[in-house]
Amino acid sequence: MIKVIPNKKNIGAEIVCDLRKLSKQDLTRLKSALYKYGVIFFKNQNLTSSIYLKFAKNFGKLANYPRLKGLSKKYPQITVVQRKKTDKGPSFGEQFHTDSIYTKKPPRFTMLLSKLVPKKGIANTEFCSQYLAYKQLPLNIKNKLKKIKASYSSEGPISITTKERVKEKGKKIKELKSTHKVLKKINENYAIYCSPGHFIDFKPNFKNKSKLKKFLFSHQIKKKFQYSMPWEKNQLAIWDNRSMLHQATPFKGNRLMHRITIH
Ligand SMILES: [Fe+2]
Repeated sequence: MIKVIPNKKNIGAEIVCDLRKLSKQDLTRLKSALYKYGVIFFKNQNLTSSIYLKFAKNFGKLANYPRLKGLSKKYPQITVVQRKKTDKGPSFGEQFHTDSIYTKKPPRFTMLLSKLVPKKGIANTEFCSQYLAYKQLPLNIKNKLKKIKASYSSEGPISITTKERVKEKGKKIKELKSTHKVLKKINENYAIYCSPGHFIDFKPNFKNKSKLKKFLFSHQIKKKFQYSMPWEKNQLAIWDNRSMLHQATPFKGNRLMHRITIH
């Protein structure tokens, strides 16, 4: 049996269970908690890479992420997110964003399994519920957002970490671009689906674009929609990449995460 412990404001939930021993009913409950709370996390999960992959496959087809190095030839779909004490510049993902929104088919879910973390509370991942952000929009803005799309680029505002990696390795990574509707309907609920970290422009053209952008970007990330998740070693988190924005907190220290994205 699994135990679901929702956070305050019902943004995110801790699930108490052993991920190596899940029944079909446990998985069903776990998936509905993921939809409901946007991000779910599990402490004390010392999983091997093959069990980690097997668990991830319960949520869909595993995605390839060519912008980060695969763990090994055997596990190319597990990518390594690492920061060393001596690293300078921003961490990977240090601005609110949706993973890979610059692709035609961005992943529905992202998973991280922590292998090495600094002191608890200094390297949190922050989440922002875009269901709640949508609900609290004025009606005229809801109607406007229903009609528009936005374009995104992998070279968007957040890409400074990519530039750092290019500088280190001297290898240029190809720019990826895509356009998506600004609202997303997931199981009857609307979420704002707009990634400030990769944003280029709204489409089509309309008056007061920059005013809407300014309003939307500050509304989306209001504190009342946020949950800041602390990490401990062997913690696994999975979030719905369509309904949650997320960002890394700036920190100094050693951290190693194994990441899987899922279509
Ligand atoms: Fe991310």
